[in-house]
Amino acid sequence: MNAMPPLAPVPSPLETFLAQQEGIGLLRFLTCGSVDDGKSTLIGRLLYDTKLIFDDTLATLARDSVKHGTTGDDIDFALLVDGLEAEREQGITIDVAYRFFTTDKRRFIVADTPGHEQYTRNMATGASNADLAVVLIDARQGVLTQTKRHSFIVSLLGIRHIVLAVNKIDLVGFSEARFNQIREEYAAAVQHLGFKTLTAIPMSARYGDNVISVSERTPWYDGPSLLHLLETIDVDSDTAARPFRMPVQWVNRPNLDFRGYAGTIASGSIRPGDRVTVAASGRTSTIARIVTLDGDLDEAGAGRAVTLTLADQIDISRGDVLAAPTEPVPVADKFDAQIVWLSEHTLFPGRSYIVKLGTRSVSGSVTRIRHRIDINSFENVAADTLEMNDVAAVSLSLTAPIAVERFTENRDLGGFILIDRLTNATVGVGMVETAAQASTNIVWHDLAVDREARAAMKGQRPAAIWFTGLSGAGKSTVANLVDRKLHALGRHTFILDGDNVRHGLNRDLGFTEADRVENIRRAAEAARLLVDAGLIVLVSFISPYRSDREAARERFEPGEFLEAFVDTPIDECRRRDPKGLYARADQGLIRNFTGVSAPYEAPENPELHLRTDATAEELADRVVEELRRRAIIA
Ligand code: ADX
Repeated sequence: MNAMPPLAPVPSPLETFLAQQEGIGLLRFLTCGSVDDGKSTLIGRLLYDTKLIFDDTLATLARDSVKHGTTGDDIDFALLVDGLEAEREQGITIDVAYRFFTTDKRRFIVADTPGHEQYTRNMATGASNADLAVVLIDARQGVLTQTKRHSFIVSLLGIRHIVLAVNKIDLVGFSEARFNQIREEYAAAVQHLGFKTLTAIPMSARYGDNVISVSERTPWYDGPSLLHLLETIDVDSDTAARPFRMPVQWVNRPNLDFRGYAGTIASGSIRPGDRVTVAASGRTSTIARIVTLDGDLDEAGAGRAVTLTLADQIDISRGDVLAAPTEPVPVADKFDAQIVWLSEHTLFPGRSYIVKLGTRSVSGSVTRIRHRIDINSFENVAADTLEMNDVAAVSLSLTAPIAVERFTENRDLGGFILIDRLTNATVGVGMVETAAQASTNIVWHDLAVDREARAAMKGQRPAAIWFTGLSGAGKSTVANLVDRKLHALGRHTFILDGDNVRHGLNRDLGFTEADRVENIRRAAEAARLLVDAGLIVLVSFISPYRSDREAARERFEPGEFLEAFVDTPIDECRRRDPKGLYARADQGLIRNFTGVSAPYEAPENPELHLRTDATAEELADRVVEELRRRAIIA
């Protein structure tokens, strides 16, 4: 008996659209432009003129145009696309909206991406799997900084075909000279970006000139209309010709007889009987079946979602990559990449984020900013940090090796996003330039005497107790008392204290946010070495940033890292002011002083919450009690 095919997930509107249109080619494109360039009007025009709007939608639109519109009694096509009420009110587009339409030649998915300066993030999202970009320019404005930024991001994201829509040509009297001037300026600005085709079209999205058909009002223009170009341009990438790769999305195991690996083929093609290798482990097997909702296939190629079964039981899990054994995927834990920083929070090298690449998510950080790229001049400039919308060449390091390829070879295994571990927000997008083979020069030495052996000899479980809190909160005092009590109990301990470590290991660091990221990173690494030595380590640093404490926690095994929040109100710290620092900070004599002129982000769920309702002695007893409760000490 054949095993059950995988359960079908409910198809999305997009999948339904695709299924209905099976058989004719698909073009994914995005539109980008600055506010008021007329993107939404253009998309509305395409949808309207290809007759995809239902009559009742049109009636609503006509009503709304009178209410909100900016076009008098005409239909405002922008309203068709700018679906959200909020957007209408603000007159800007705030998110990526995908539209589907079709002609008898092709079907289209268009990502309508916002042009407002702070919404680069959405643009990058919309561009991530498009084949072509329509870059809109207001003929009156010409090429703007944002036009260049968008074109640059589009090139980073692997788009090789550009349509330059010189819009509102009616407002410059259908001027050929103006059109040529903009076309040349743009071509010069993007000549380094490696676009394969660049087609400039004079256009009036509002009146439909050169959108669906060629306009008589631009007799000097002998190129195609936008729709004609979209229907005929050849954007076929060569992913099918590349070696086979499929990131495993999930392991499908509906019953004991069926074990399938589901995913979308990123490149190449596969047939039953072909050999495949699991990238990370190097294990090899043979394809038994290619299962789909429409039955088994004899062959499947790039872009196809399939479930593969193998002839052998080998260990494969979500995030693994199946590849052709003749051309294995590099596995790396360090790589160079270009990134676009999307967060309003500054990027500091060393701070840890979640790197999501293919179907894998691992912790990692930017170890170095090699240079920032000036979007206007495309020059390389030195940078220590990145701000929102910055584009930079960086080096990254991951906590585990993963299958990665150069973005230009494989978008699925070369494109990644950076996610803030606390807010889950996407804070960056990146494209891998070169990946270093994992552990080529530095290998882990397996220790003959491992941490368990070391800890067992000491009769304790190693752990790091991480005291965080304001300066003067009492972290060191409590840590010292705990140390003394543990010592008296015959336990093996060590103290890492911010003030002391800053005299040695970290003496090159100050108190900027960037330096604090590095201060905590080193403290965590040192603590980890001591835990590996079998010790109970008492770490006491202000460590004001939540994400850095979370990154520290990640360096330890579950249950090995205890966050102890010494929660003393700032007024009390200021009253105590043991080192006279608050007084000096209040007079402006110390910069970036935590709680005064630099932030302190309190822990949300510390393992130990030490409030000032007790004496330091009592607080220390509570810590020792907690260690006992957790069987860290007997
Ligand atoms: S942390 O923020 O990077 O974790 P750390 O714990 O190493 O700080 O060092 C804090 C100690 O440095 C304070 O207890 C205080 O004695 C001293 N110090 C000097 N300048 C500052 C400052 N600007 N902010 C906070 N602490 C400072």
